[in-house]
Amino acid sequence: MDFARSYGPWAVIAGASEGTGASFARQLAAKGLNLILIARREAPLRALADEVRRANGVEVVTASIDLATLDAPQKVAAACGDREVGLLVFNAGADPNASYFLGAKYSVWADLVQRNVNTMMACAYASAEAMVKRKRGGILLLNSGACYGAAGGITTYCASKAFMLCFAEGLWAELREHGVDVLTLVMSTTDTPEFRRLMAERGLPVPPGIADADAVAALGLERLPHGPIQNWGEADDQIGMAGVSAAQRRERVVMVSDITKQMFAKA
Ligand SMILES: NC(=O)c1ccc[n+]([C@@H]2O[C@H](COP(=O)([O-])OP(=O)(O)OC[C@H]3O[C@@H](n4cnc5c(N)ncnc54)[C@H](OP(=O)(O)O)[C@@H]3O)[C@@H](O)[C@H]2O)c1
Repeated sequence: MDFARSYGPWAVIAGASEGTGASFARQLAAKGLNLILIARREAPLRALADEVRRANGVEVVTASIDLATLDAPQKVAAACGDREVGLLVFNAGADPNASYFLGAKYSVWADLVQRNVNTMMACAYASAEAMVKRKRGGILLLNSGACYGAAGGITTYCASKAFMLCFAEGLWAELREHGVDVLTLVMSTTDTPEFRRLMAERGLPVPPGIADADAVAALGLERLPHGPIQNWGEADDQIGMAGVSAAQRRERVVMVSDITKQMFAKA
């Protein structure tokens, strides 16, 4: 597959300054895509932009945007301008709070939902509209095993990731006939700077054998045409912690989407 032809010439990475976001940037630039890199911290974005420009000769734009703010979608759209975006990678999404629901101010959870749900959905909407017109493109949403069920201490995080799971499944069903691929990559514990910060704050060691950020990004790009779900470390037909395989969930999405299609056709 010619990746740049399917998903180029520009890719947006929301949450690109480190970890899996930076891994996506390096791998996409190596495939010849130009990049729009978004995160809050401008300095690591600029350093990454310089690195991939030098290494790959691609064009790179950076934008310092807090994706948890109400006007983030407009700012992302402004950063994209009239560039032809063929791939959206929505990577930002961890829960840095390590708190029970009532243990933090409500605004903390509202911000998390704003970033993981509203801004993610708005970016997907804007990207999908243009991609459907072009009949090609990809939307890759970085998820967590937390999407399959909640637990105390990560309540709002789990709920936001469950939204992403259902959203990705439905969007995959709607866009695939328009030539646009949608995948949510369900990650397990991954060695990112944010994960290391969280462990260090608690005086805990980084556990051995956790996923590598470069490997996670590589899997996401490889499996993008095979949505809607890829579970880290699991084959498509493997029943893992979710109690259901990606293949079984795909089958259900197709079956229910056929029913809604018939209902819409009669209306
Ligand atoms: N690491 C894990 O063990 C793990 C496990 C399962 C799932 N995941 C998922 O993997 C993805 C990446 O996680 P991560 O561990 O790298 O942590 P993360 O906090 O999601 O950070 C990833 C990137 O997002 C940016 N970011 C975070 N909040 C932002 C905001 N409000 N506005 C703009 N940019 C923002 C960060 O840059 P700035 O700080 O410069 O803004 C960073 O470049 C997330 O979706 C997470 O849910 C991670």
